[in-house]
Amino acid sequence: MRSDANIAGPMTDPVPGPRTESTGADVSRETPPPMDDTPIGRAAQLAVEALGRAGEGLPRPEQTRVIVVANQKGGVGKTTTTVNLAASLALHGARVLVIDLDPQGNASTALGIDHHAEVPSIYDVLVDSKPLSEVVQPVPDVEGLFCAPATIDLAGAEIELVSLVARESRLQRAIQAYEQPLDYILIDCPPSLGLLTVNALVAGQEVLIPIQCEYYALEGLGQLLRNVDLVRGHLNPVLHVSTILLTMYDGRTRLASQVAEEVRTHFGDEVLRTSIPRSVRISEAPSYGQTVLTYDPGSSGALSYLEAAREIALRGVGISYDGMHGHVGAQNDQSMVEGIQ
Ligand SMILES: Nc1ncnc2c1ncn2[C@@H]1O[C@H](COP(=O)(O)OP(=O)(O)OP(=O)(O)O)[C@@H](O)[C@H]1O
Ligand SMILES: [Mg+2]
Repeated sequence: MRSDANIAGPMTDPVPGPRTESTGADVSRETPPPMDDTPIGRAAQLAVEALGRAGEGLPRPEQTRVIVVANQKGGVGKTTTTVNLAASLALHGARVLVIDLDPQGNASTALGIDHHAEVPSIYDVLVDSKPLSEVVQPVPDVEGLFCAPATIDLAGAEIELVSLVARESRLQRAIQAYEQPLDYILIDCPPSLGLLTVNALVAGQEVLIPIQCEYYALEGLGQLLRNVDLVRGHLNPVLHVSTILLTMYDGRTRLASQVAEEVRTHFGDEVLRTSIPRSVRISEAPSYGQTVLTYDPGSSGALSYLEAAREIALRGVGISYDGMHGHVGAQNDQSMVEGIQ
């Protein structure tokens, strides 16, 4: 899947993508994706345009970027980040697959994807070697966005995988055999470092770590980083932590800005300049089976994920980000986080 030979259509296009009209004054501008004909799809599209960036378009990666969203700490915003970034990238015109690798199935729920026990799911892919193409479903309301759902069966997969051949690389093989052209695959990991997360780390090139702006935000991250090193050393030499995203950032609190500063000190350039604010709209959206991009396209949560997506896309092709919405940067003169434990 990573070889150019297998990448058809959209992904072979250089900047910008296949919806580009490269004529006249529009030569460096991308034609916005066609309007979705559902009301919420249309509303989301309007939000992208409201940002004033739809005409600008986003560069598309030359090869599929497989991004593993991981942090073994629970409730830090992994799933929220996965689905909202995926929707943002799709609204910017990319083709995006979300792989739900958490038995809780929260990403599937948030994308409005049916994932009751009988639905073909990522469990069948991992344990029974079912082709990924047989479980992938299109996400309603967001063109170009797809989901491989997780069902409750996946809860047993950690155990069942142990006795299987190539147990760490089953997801990698499934992705490599998947022939649909994609710009991004985002993998939502469970809050653990078991075989499911290891499968994601073996399958991906990049790790995105969401960090909640709270006290002890970095605690336990050392263990995740060591796992990334181990997988890189033994199973997947290209794996690296490419992106840190600060989530649930509350600019009114001194703690949030201090934690943000601490994270930036530790991770430097990997930390996105865009942070995600704490937003009621973001937390409400999943109960409607929607991302915040369709639930409330004009909200600060939607705009911040669109901005984070833009930053990730630009970084992927080596273009520096202009920092339009970068708003974390308060000074810190006192260490609030004891360092990576
Ligand atoms: N920016 C935000 N503003 C407000 N609420 C948020 C935000 N991001 C996430 N949440 C809420 O915080 C909770 C945890 O988020 P989420 O499920 O994305 O975390 P997670 O890391 O995937 O959790 P788990 O480890 O259980 O998989 C959810 O209720 C979610 O709606
Ligand atoms: Mg989750």
